[in-house]
Amino acid sequence: MSASAHRGEIFTLTDDPAKGAEATVYHADGVMVIEDGLITACGAWDILGPTLSPDIPVTHHKNGVMVPGFVDAHVHFPQLSMIASPGKQLMDWLKSYTFPAEEAFADPEYCKAAAPVFLDALLAHGTTSALVFASVHEQSVEALFEAAHARNMRLVAGKVLMDRDAPDALLEPAEEGYRKSKALIERWHGKGRLGYAVTPRFAPTCSKESLQSAGRLLAEYPDILLQTHLSENHAEIARVAELFPDADDYLDVYEQSGMVGDRSVFAHCVHLEEGALSRLAKARSSIAFCPSSNLFLGSGLMDYEAARKAGIEIGLGSDVGAGTSLSLLATMSEAYKVAHIKGTVIAAEQAFYHATLGGARALHMADRVGSLKPGMEADFLVLDYAATPVIAGRMAVARDVMERLFVLMMLGDDRAVRHVYLAGKPVAGHAFAATQQAA
Ligand code: GUN
Ligand code: ZN
Repeated sequence: MSASAHRGEIFTLTDDPAKGAEATVYHADGVMVIEDGLITACGAWDILGPTLSPDIPVTHHKNGVMVPGFVDAHVHFPQLSMIASPGKQLMDWLKSYTFPAEEAFADPEYCKAAAPVFLDALLAHGTTSALVFASVHEQSVEALFEAAHARNMRLVAGKVLMDRDAPDALLEPAEEGYRKSKALIERWHGKGRLGYAVTPRFAPTCSKESLQSAGRLLAEYPDILLQTHLSENHAEIARVAELFPDADDYLDVYEQSGMVGDRSVFAHCVHLEEGALSRLAKARSSIAFCPSSNLFLGSGLMDYEAARKAGIEIGLGSDVGAGTSLSLLATMSEAYKVAHIKGTVIAAEQAFYHATLGGARALHMADRVGSLKPGMEADFLVLDYAATPVIAGRMAVARDVMERLFVLMMLGDDRAVRHVYLAGKPVAGHAFAATQQAA
């Protein structure tokens, strides 16, 4: 049995902080005990410290805070290479930059080289779990799962389904997409910490038959997820109305195909039609809020407050490559600004909720990750209060942990991630990277 303990400031949530103060757990001087990759105790050092066996090594993290690993609720594996591609809104951006970048994933060797780069970049930014779009090619999913399995990451991903309105090299008949998705589910879903998400790209590139095949897979495998895009951009929505004249609205296209349920995660939801939010809430679907992407592509401002009032679970999505950073700290900052324009203030604990436990709930993995408490897998970060001179200076006058978390979410990025642990093992972070270089 391997055991270890980590001492220092600890911040975590056991529930949505909007439900009350009991949801927030904070230890100014805390300790987390880990055995065989699981958290066995988490509490005040004063109380737990003296009970620890002297054999258990204690790492003391000073001038920083331990938080759960971040959960990215929406990100594209093949798009890291084309992040920061300028000047276009969604539909032209897809044609000009995204589809050409995704075509490269036809080559299995390219996929195998790209997967470790992508996952190591996620980890360096403090993202320990994610819901990931691969490309249409099954080899992109194979490479991603192989690399995530080797790193012991809790990751959910799926092969994109598309059968129209994209370059021929990225299209396949609906039946073939169904068959290949099924084979990937059989091979990977539930292997180690991996899960599968059926992944119809969005209604403009999917025929009704393709969307229905996604709905069929969701019904056949009750514990997989479904991920897609919904109501991101006005031109996209107009195209859906053209392609599906019989549907009441965009969401109805997905409803008619059996795609809208409690295991479905819809990215964006910026311009939902009247009534769609309450239908999403009723179905207990989740939203991946992608503010960095929505600003970069000029898509619009999601109505965060309305989604909250509807009672919908919200995860945060970097949505790289339309998002401009893999950092969920940077994404929290954009979320704050988007909500603020519409008159809502997202408090730091609320933003951290969406980036950790809220995301884990959206991805149906909150029984394993997203919170630092006994029984959970020990995926956690140490965020650095001295990450940059500006952050260090600002922290010197911060009065409490909420202010310090707010400073991290406004000013932080991968530089603020000092350590990343997966199931209790150090795997990334700037301090870890420094030790690797020295070795
Ligand atoms: N809608 C359909 N595909 C995509 C994509 O790759 N990125 C974003 N942001 N929106 C999409
Ligand atoms: Zn996306």
